[in-house]
Amino acid sequence: MAKILVTGGAGYIGSITRHFLEKHGHSVIVVDNLSRGHREAVPEPILRVLDTRDTDKVEVLLRDEHVEAVIHFAAYIAVGESTQVPEMYFTNNVSGSLSLFEAMLRADVKRLVFSSTAAAYGIPATVPITEDEPYAPINPYGESKVMVEKILEWLDRYREFRSVRLRYFNACGAEPEADLGEEHDPETHLIPLILRAVQTGKPVTVFGDDYATPDGTCIRDYIHVSDLAEAHIYAVEHLLKGGKSNVFNAGTGVGYSVEEVIAAVEHLTGKQVPRVTGPRREGDPPSLVADSRRLQETLGWRPTRSSIERIVSDAWEFARRHSEPRSQS
Ligand code: UFG
Repeated sequence: MAKILVTGGAGYIGSITRHFLEKHGHSVIVVDNLSRGHREAVPEPILRVLDTRDTDKVEVLLRDEHVEAVIHFAAYIAVGESTQVPEMYFTNNVSGSLSLFEAMLRADVKRLVFSSTAAAYGIPATVPITEDEPYAPINPYGESKVMVEKILEWLDRYREFRSVRLRYFNACGAEPEADLGEEHDPETHLIPLILRAVQTGKPVTVFGDDYATPDGTCIRDYIHVSDLAEAHIYAVEHLLKGGKSNVFNAGTGVGYSVEEVIAAVEHLTGKQVPRVTGPRREGDPPSLVADSRRLQETLGWRPTRSSIERIVSDAWEFARRHSEPRSQS
């Protein structure tokens, strides 16, 4: 069992990964500056309110706590915002990562799991997407993650700094056992917005229904956040055993359209989802589905909760528990 530092552990995927690390017997310290995360998502004794850009303090923490590996979530994640204030994304996501790596090198902690993204591929030439697809980000958010991936490739080569980069597809759902789920502000992700539409009666906008897909709406690879969290456990344990650096798609290999997700919510709730069709959202590829065989074959990970029914049901339970009382019903 290892001592693991989780940056961004007050966020959505970070907090649920922290829960699974502890379940697997690891001891965790969370670093989060709470600029976007939620204090209540982290048990108080393990939270250190700190910015990864504070290299000296991170170095001291790594040494004092005898940290053996780091899982690095801390980053801004909103694609739209990254096109409005790109510099904020490069400062936080790239400088923040570099500062963390510098602190790790100084403290001689050389194992890292990194949250990367399918946005690294931009609009891919082929779907399902393998890890060999070239980097082709089309927004500053994706570019910021690619920059960090490249830094990690060089650190592996010249500093024996071993890392696993996980390229997330669409993380969604919630972990009922820990009462942790998605609470972004503002929320931009499809499933919470559909659930909110059911709760409030205010329609969700379907961004385009004229794509070259079977029902005209975009297809995504929705991965249950708890399956995604578990991929991090496999990744960090691989590194702790002396495993090599690698990059993996973290997706399920199954795609659902926006209409199919809405249908799953209608089936679950027995209610019509209020919706309007709007124009396409800029930068949305028609279909993004992972080829995740490398992750499954190399690390032995399997998605076990990522059916769309399970995803929307866990997300719904969380949304009901964490929203204002509903106006009707
Ligand atoms: N969508 C709608 N209406 C909405 C919100 C989303 O129709 O109100 C559609 C989008 O067009 C897309 C799908 O629902 O087809 C999923 O959209 P999300 O915003 O939930 O997720 P994205 O696929 O855009 O983004 C996800 C991650 C990003 C990451 C990206 C990689 O959230 O962090 O995948 O491509 F960058």
